[in-house]
Parts: sequence; C-alpha cells; structure tokens
Amino acid sequence: MCGIVGFVGTRNAAPILLEGLKRLEYRGYDSAGIAVDHRGVISISKVSGRIEKLCELTDGGKTMPGFAGIAHTRWATHGAPTDVNAHPHMSCDGRFSVVHNGIIENYMELRDELMGNGYLFRSQTDTEVIVHLIEMYYDGNFKAAVMKATSRLEGSYALGVLCSDEPGKIIAVKEASPLILGIGIGENFFASDVTALVAYTRNVLYLNDGELAELTPENITVYDCTGTPVPKTASRVTWDIEAAEKGGYEHFMLKEIMEQPRAVKAALTPRIQENRICLDEFRMTPGELRGIRKIVITACGSAYYAGCAGKYAIEKLCHIPVDVQLASELRYSEPQIDSSTLLIVLSQSGETADTIAAMKECQSLGAKVLAIVNVVGSTIAKLADYTLYMWAGPEIAVATTKGYTTQLSILYLFAVYAAEALGLLSEKEYQRLIGELQALPQKIQQVFDMNGILPRLASKYNTARSIFYIGRNTDYAAALEGALKMKEISYLHAEAYAAGELKHGTIALIDEGQPVVALCCNDRIAEKTMNNILEVKARGAQVLALAVKGNRTVLTQADDVIYIPGTDSLFQTVVEIIPLQLLAYYVAKENGCDIDKPKNLAKAVTVE
Ligand code: G6P
Repeated sequence: MCGIVGFVGTRNAAPILLEGLKRLEYRGYDSAGIAVDHRGVISISKVSGRIEKLCELTDGGKTMPGFAGIAHTRWATHGAPTDVNAHPHMSCDGRFSVVHNGIIENYMELRDELMGNGYLFRSQTDTEVIVHLIEMYYDGNFKAAVMKATSRLEGSYALGVLCSDEPGKIIAVKEASPLILGIGIGENFFASDVTALVAYTRNVLYLNDGELAELTPENITVYDCTGTPVPKTASRVTWDIEAAEKGGYEHFMLKEIMEQPRAVKAALTPRIQENRICLDEFRMTPGELRGIRKIVITACGSAYYAGCAGKYAIEKLCHIPVDVQLASELRYSEPQIDSSTLLIVLSQSGETADTIAAMKECQSLGAKVLAIVNVVGSTIAKLADYTLYMWAGPEIAVATTKGYTTQLSILYLFAVYAAEALGLLSEKEYQRLIGELQALPQKIQQVFDMNGILPRLASKYNTARSIFYIGRNTDYAAALEGALKMKEISYLHAEAYAAGELKHGTIALIDEGQPVVALCCNDRIAEKTMNNILEVKARGAQVLALAVKGNRTVLTQADDVIYIPGTDSLFQTVVEIIPLQLLAYYVAKENGCDIDKPKNLAKAVTVE
C-alpha cells in the first residue's frame, strides 16, 4: 500500500519527511512526493520512481524550507505511476495539499460534481477529489472544511492535509486505513506505519476510524466525526523496525494472508455501485461480448490456478467455453485463437516473461486481451486492451496469497458482469450474486475467527513426507493452489488430485497414515468427495477435511475437520483457500522454513 508521513515542529520538515519515506520503502511504491508549508506558501515536489530521485530534486530537502509538511509514497491504483499522479495533490487555489492512502469508492461521482462546479483536475487519481472538496467547503475554518469533505467520502482513507492559512498545523484523518500519531518534544508526527516514526519517537497515539487529529508543534487534539474532542492515552512502541515493517506479524506472508478481507473488499466494492457491477476499464460493448466464442485464460503459478477456479464461474454464468492454459505451454502451442477469442491474462506482477510471450502470441492471432494485474503500469497492463487492477496493495512474500484471492475475486466479478450484459441473468439472480460477492470479505474474516486450531493441526501434519489434496470442481481448483502453497513454503511434497481420479492410479499410493486433505466445500458435489474420504480411510489414510459449517456427516468420516462459511458454490474457492494458506504457513513455520523467501523461488519470474 501507499505510505504517508506528516511532521510539524520547529525544525525543517523536508529532511524528516524524506527519512520517514525511506522507512516506508519496503512496502513497495512507484512514486513519491512531499509538500511543505513555508510561511504560508505550500511548495510541492513529486516524482515517479525512487525516493533518491526526490532527495536529489530537493537536495535532501534543503530546497524546501518550512516547519510543517506531508509526504507520500504511492503504489498506483487509479492512474499510471507518473509525476502528475504522485501525491501530494494541491487545491486549485494552492491553499490546501493532501496525501492519501486507501481508495475513494465514490470518486467518479464526486469528480463529476466538482468539475461541474469549475474545479480543474490535473491527475487521474481518486485522491484529487479530496483536496477540491476541502477547497469547496472552506470558509475560513480548516478543520470544518476537512470534516465536511470527509463526510462525502466513501471508501478507505488515511489523510494528511496542509492549509497555507494555518502554517503551524497539519490535520490527519483515518477511515479504514492505518494511521498513527507520533508525539515528540515540541514536534508531532503522523504516519501510516510505525516504522516511519520510530527513529523520532516511540510515544504514539492510535486513531480509530472516523477520527480526525489536529497537530501543532505542542499539541495533538483528536476529534470524533461530530467534532467532539476525544481523550486519548499515549502508548509506547516496543517493536523493532523489522517487526514494525511486518505490522507486528512474524512474516510478510502471514500479514498478507490476514490482509485478505481488506484486499478483496478493495478489489470488489469500488466496482459495485448502486447494486450494479461497473467495469469501466473493460470497454467491450454487450454486442462485442456477444461476438466472443471462446475465452482463454492464461497465466503462471498461482495465477494459473486462479484461472482454473474462475473458469467454473465464467462457464456456468456466461455459457462461453473457457480454456485455461499455462502461459509457458500456450506460447509454444498452436492455439486455435482468432478475433472471436477473449484472452484473459492473470498476473500479480504484470511482468512474468512466459505470460507476456503467450499474450503477444494470442494478440498476433487477433484475440482481444483483458488483463487482471496488480502492478499498475506493468508490461502486461500496458500491452492489454483492457486492464482490471487487483488493488491488492504490494505483495512482498514470494508465495502469493492476497494476489491469488483478488485475482479470483475479479474473475468472479467479470463472470457476473458479463452474464448480465449477455442477458443471461434475471435481475433477482444478478442481485443475489452481487450480494454473495459483497459478503466475501466478511466470510474470509470469519475463516480466521473460526480456525484457531490450525497451528495445532499443522504440528500434526508437518512430519508427513507427502500430502495429497483431493476435491472436485471448484474444490479441485482450491486443491491445486492449496498443494502449491504447501510445496512452495514448507518443501513438503504435496499433490492435488481430482477426487474422481483417485481410482485411476493415485489410490495405489495411499498407505497407513498417509495424510489426505479432502476438500468438501462445494455443496453441489461435496457428497461425492465424502465418498472418496471413505475410500482413502479404508486404506489407512489420515484425513483432514475442509467443509462448510453445518456439515456434520464429515465429522464422522475425517480425522480432523476445518469448517468455513458457505457461499455460492461458484465463489467458494476464494473462501476455502484461506485455511489452506494458513495450513501451509504453519507447517512451514513448524519446520523452520524461510517462509517469506522460499529457496529457489522468485516473486516475479521475468525470464523464461
Ligand atoms: C512466481 C510467484 C508466484 C506467482 C507466479 C506468477 O512463481 O512465486 O507466486 O503466482 O510467479 O506470477 P504473476 O506475477 O504473473 O502473477
């Protein structure tokens, strides 16, 4: 995610802000900027690229004197990673400057309204609406203008705001994005992340959602959303820098697993407006969609497995055949692709060499390309005809988790969107599916709440030499990704099988004590897989079953059961993958593996 820092005191702000930004570098970013107030005039420097560039531009901050400032590292979501789209953003009259973390979901309607009122937009960001709203509501009261502006915002935001009429003050606001305040002596700070503060102070205040803080060199006053002051007690940070970077989690992978309710929400909810799916970036008309005879999904690794899971939803809802192909295979095959094919390319990094090559090959045959990508401005995003960004925030652990679930969530969204555009859904069914999609973040959260037993289960299965994962249909898709996670980070041999295939060979490998993870979550077909549990149990297997809450039969068959909340069977994979990610994580931890950087693996595979 983006990072923000703010400072107000009696020293020059810019060098402190630059130092704070450097501490946030580990989160990943593509541009950076600072704004400083000097005697009632705000100056801004911002660049795409590295913080070093910003340091050079400002001579380490020396060219930007002033005692109050705000700064930002951007991870592009709305708009390419350019100088203009970098934060801070400035109001038309130059009186206000804003940095923002998060996503403003209703920015399009606000933008229209503000443009109608004569405000000029310079960037493509969702953030710029905030600074113009503040300008619109300003009548001499800085805090009141910020409060009025934020009352119009839907989505998530941590904001830092400067006002040139009040040079010794900065305002910070928090809503569903991390933000903490640092208390110094004669100076105060805010930051999205404690790492940016610990070099200066370990005394911090935590803001709750909906709260606003006014910071001056001497004071911090926190208000609730009605403007009433809220008493706060300072806490002392005991984390070292490394622990702070991981938000207190032991590994980035665990942090990213736990971020999934928020990441999936960020991928889905801005695209559901007034109970309709809006995929503005996918500009195919219903007529063009009707001309699509075949969809090919291509990707590598986990992204390929996300495609395997998404296929079920697209075929069922859109009645279009979907062929999921490994990019490394597709690029050397002679694919039956023409202009009636829609190619969907999945890639977290947007830079995977095989995926790019497969995409180019299919484009040369006339296919239109829809890319689902996390990194804004990446090669795949640039080459595609249409790009839907995942908005998952930077992923640091090599083994993807939130990348996979956000990719899959967008495939679901696409399936429902296209089915409706093709006239294949009744309004009632369309609304039901949208409701199911909107409930996914909450259901992922429930998986965490329901599964405190996972570390204990991991210590039971961590000594296995090999683990089989079985399932059918969407459960089979989850098995593929679950087994890959186990292989990648714990180095245990793990193999996914379509449960119906057991009898055709694999069952010969089932012996006394052989662990089998049986996925029985798809309510249409779970019973069949439960029969397979009986078959492997009869041969001595030790079975860990995954089932939807309420399935009592499975308790009598399996040795251990993990329960998850149910959703429409088409969308179930995104929920059931969560305990499988955690199982792999805890097994790897139990075995002392280097979880964030597994041996021989790379985060982005940019060579063939
Ligand atoms: C590597 C990563 C995987 C990822 C795959 C595809 O193998 O370790 O986590 O799924 O590449 O990467 P992409 O960036 O194209 O999604």
